[in-house]
Amino acid sequence: MPLVTTKEMFKKAYDGGYAVGAFNVNNMEIVQGITEAAGELESPVILQVSKGARAYANHTYLVKLVEAAVEENPKIPIALHLDHGDTFELCKSCIDGGFTSVMIDASSKSFEDNIALTKQVVEYAHDKGVVVEAELGTLAGIEDEVVVESGKEAYTRPEEVEEFVDKTGCDSLAIAIGTSHGAYKFTADQCTRNADGILVPPPLRFDVLEECIKRLPGFPIVLHGSSSVPQEFVKMVNQYGGNMPDAVGIPEEQLRQAAKLAVCKINIDSDIRLAMTGNIRKYFAEHPDHFDPRQYLKPARQAVKDMVAHKIVHVLGSDGKA
Ligand code: G3H
Ligand code: 13P
Ligand code: ZN
Repeated sequence: MPLVTTKEMFKKAYDGGYAVGAFNVNNMEIVQGITEAAGELESPVILQVSKGARAYANHTYLVKLVEAAVEENPKIPIALHLDHGDTFELCKSCIDGGFTSVMIDASSKSFEDNIALTKQVVEYAHDKGVVVEAELGTLAGIEDEVVVESGKEAYTRPEEVEEFVDKTGCDSLAIAIGTSHGAYKFTADQCTRNADGILVPPPLRFDVLEECIKRLPGFPIVLHGSSSVPQEFVKMVNQYGGNMPDAVGIPEEQLRQAAKLAVCKINIDSDIRLAMTGNIRKYFAEHPDHFDPRQYLKPARQAVKDMVAHKIVHVLGSDGKA
C-alpha cells in the first residue's frame, strides 16, 4: 500500500486500546531497523522527520528512503510525518514534498497565536489531504533548537483543549503530562533512586490526560518525549568509553497505560540514538582494527530493530494491527 495518513491508524488505535509508534528517522539504517521490525510484527508505524533531520540528510533523501521502506513492506501502513514543524513555510514544504502528516508546534506561542498558526497550517494541509498534529502545553527538554529548562515546562490545561481543537480543526493533539525530550528527562532532585542507584522519575500526570480525554472524547492524543532510556544501552555507552550519568526516561508501564487510553501516537527518538551509540561504541572497543562502516552499522541497525520490536509488542501493543 502507498504511504498513508494517520487518520485510519488513529481511529483503529483509539478503538483498539493501543498506540502507534512514531520513530524519528535520519538515515538508511534507522529507516530499515524500524520498518523491518514493524513489517515482521505486522504493525502500523509512523516515520517522522525533524527540521534537524532534514538539514542533516536532505528532504529528498529522506522521502526516497521512506518510499523504499514502503515498497519493501507493502503490507503495513506507514505514515511520513514532520516532527515539530515551527513555521507555516516548513509545514507547506513538507506537505508539497510528499509527507502525509505534519506537526505544527506553536506551543511556545500564546494560546491565540498557537490557534492562528495551527489553523493556517490545517487549512493548507487538509486541502491537500494531509493531516495535522498540534501541541498545547510545553515539555521540558529540547524541542529542536528550543531548550525548555526543567521546571519551566507547563502541563497542558485541560480547560483549553476543546476550544483549541474546535478553532483549529487539527487532527491530533500533543499534550504535556510530564514526559520530556532527550536522554536526561529529569534532574536528580525531581526523582528518587532505586536500590541500584538508578533514578526513578515522578509519575506521569494521568489526571491531566483523563481530563483532556473527557473533554475530547474519541480524539487522538499524542505523547512526545516518550523514550524510556533503557538502562542496558546507558550501561553499554558508559562501559565503552561514553559518559551519560543519570540518563533516565519514561517507565514503559506508564506508556503502556497511556496507550490503552486515548494516546494514539507515542514519539521515540532518544532510544534509537542510544541503541545505535551503545552498539557502535561496543563494536569499536571490541574491534579496534575494523574501519568498514558496514561492520559497525550492521549491529547498530539490528539493535534499532530489536528495540523497536520490543516497543511494538510490550509498550505500544500495535503488533498484528496492520
Ligand atoms: O523532539 C525532537 C526529536 O528528538 C528530534 O530531534 O531535532 O535533534 O532531530 P532533532
Ligand atoms: P524522546 O527524546 O523521548 O525520544 O522524544 C522524541 C520526540 O518527542 C520527538 O518528537
Ligand atoms: Zn517531540
